[in-house]
Amino acid sequence: MFRMTFTIAIDGPAASGKGTLARRLAAHYGFRHLDTGLTYRAVAKAMLDAGMPLDDEAAAVDAARAFDIGNMQRDVLAAHEIGEAASRIAVMPGVRRVLVERQREFATRPPGTVLDGRDIGTVVCPDAPVKLFVIASPEVRARRRYHEILGNGGEAEEQAILADIVKRDERDMNRADSPLKPARDAHLLDTSEMTIEAAFRAARRFVDAALGENS
Ligand code: C5P
Repeated sequence: MFRMTFTIAIDGPAASGKGTLARRLAAHYGFRHLDTGLTYRAVAKAMLDAGMPLDDEAAAVDAARAFDIGNMQRDVLAAHEIGEAASRIAVMPGVRRVLVERQREFATRPPGTVLDGRDIGTVVCPDAPVKLFVIASPEVRARRRYHEILGNGGEAEEQAILADIVKRDERDMNRADSPLKPARDAHLLDTSEMTIEAAFRAARRFVDAALGENS
């Protein structure tokens, strides 16, 4: 069994603001951060690069064991088609087993960790002392993604992004293994009408309270 350090578990759908929140919290508390979406993306990229069919579970399991978790390239893995492929390989229980094991190992690293994804509070770290479930309406999330792409000099169409977000939510919430849903003891943060600063403040209150209880 792994012994977890103090872990903040953050879940939520694509573009809900959970990644930004996770990075801010990790910087604030001096904790290590793992964006678990990148682990699914790393497997998807390995499969695409090798020209393997995305439903080849044996090959995907090998890829899940092989990639270097300390050297995932966010900018490369951010590509839209990699996200789409990641949500397809994420339905395979064999792949999830290997990645969850590697994510739990990360959660043992001192002095504390922040993990964000879809199943951190429910499956990966069910004993985490702080669990946050971050949501925002699909329209707000599509608008954020749109402005992010434009801000990076790219081109996009807001309606197409919205359709993608709805499709990905559907796949993530309805899969049989580890669907996206809040843990029973998760704090819900709806960021639709909230600035990142306000969400960060609200999250810090939950973390500070739990740290107080842990000390
Ligand atoms: O968060 P991100 O968009 O990078 O995740 C890509 C895909 O990986 C998600 O759509 C989801 O299907 C999958 N994923 C998952 N469990 C996690 C993190 C991501 O199934 N903990």
